[in-house]
Amino acid sequence: MRVLITGSNGQLGSEIKEIATKYSKLDFIFKDLPELDICNFEALQAFIMDNNINAIINCAAYTAVDKAEEDAEIAEKVNSKGVINIVNALQTVNGKLIHISTDYVFDGDHFLPYKETDPVSPIGVYGETKRAGELAVINSDIDSIVIRTSWLYSAYGNNFVKTMMRLGKEKKKLKVIFDQIGTPTFAGDLANTCLAILSNEQNRIDKAGKVYHFSNEGVASWYDFATAVMKINKLDCEVLPIETKDYPTLAKRPHYSVLNKAKIKQNFKITIPYWRDSLEGCIQKLNS
Ligand SMILES: NC(=O)c1ccc[n+]([C@@H]2O[C@H](COP(=O)([O-])OP(=O)(O)OC[C@H]3O[C@@H](n4cnc5c(N)ncnc54)[C@H](OP(=O)(O)O)[C@@H]3O)[C@@H](O)[C@H]2O)c1
Repeated sequence: MRVLITGSNGQLGSEIKEIATKYSKLDFIFKDLPELDICNFEALQAFIMDNNINAIINCAAYTAVDKAEEDAEIAEKVNSKGVINIVNALQTVNGKLIHISTDYVFDGDHFLPYKETDPVSPIGVYGETKRAGELAVINSDIDSIVIRTSWLYSAYGNNFVKTMMRLGKEKKKLKVIFDQIGTPTFAGDLANTCLAILSNEQNRIDKAGKVYHFSNEGVASWYDFATAVMKINKLDCEVLPIETKDYPTLAKRPHYSVLNKAKIKQNFKITIPYWRDSLEGCIQKLNS
């Protein structure tokens, strides 16, 4: 199977690149801007046809949550129209799609981990545009799934872990929000899951409903996450818990966005590492 990874220079795309050789049944083509823009339908369709693409893992997205509030048009273009283009282009070759979405489609007004069947209600532009992208996939008849994930970090790109490591070396004290609860997800674990699903020929990937939830196991606040980064790195920086109201941002974020992963574990027979174990692995890699 020939698999196109769109947005391949981002966190998830880069982690897929790193493990790609472990999946010998899959033949990969990695593309990102400016070479392949998912917003350009003609170019995308021609690329898929010319290169005999059978499947896409869409890692391309507009992910700047705060900037999206002021840049709604471009966020909509990439996260919604770009996904419609991918769906339409795959339709012509009968291709498969794994599309990645976000916990930010929920409003956070919950106290139990969100199931795939729970109602969505995004509270910001990023979440709204990602929901529109989900709907393009859900309403299509191509062999496709949407995997919602949360709090993604990796050895690549900019992310919370790297920011905490930098600030932990520069500062003696750091204030971090403790009233937003979710689960950190190592992009390498998500990458493995996507490739395991795609490489198993038994998996008609849209079986049992198209939406799946994936994060690492466990629960944390951003304060817990930051504290773990400092401890694992043995950094002498005190993390102080603060409330969301004391750290104003352009975009509102859900107070609670823990995802229930029972469906993906059952349907695809996968096991998911505990968030702190995966964090240790990623930090070890960053420090080596
Ligand atoms: N990061 C998180 O915390 C998080 C949480 C939950 C869900 N997710 C979802 O997980 C997925 C992967 O996220 P990530 O953190 O790996 O994202 P990322 O690091 O921001 O990577 C996204 C990649 O897509 C590229 N891109 C942007 N517009 C494009 C276009 N029109 N055509 C082709 N490529 C384009 C970006 O290029 P430029 O950098 O040049 O723009 C970037 O290389 C996304 O769907 C995201 O919404 C992320």
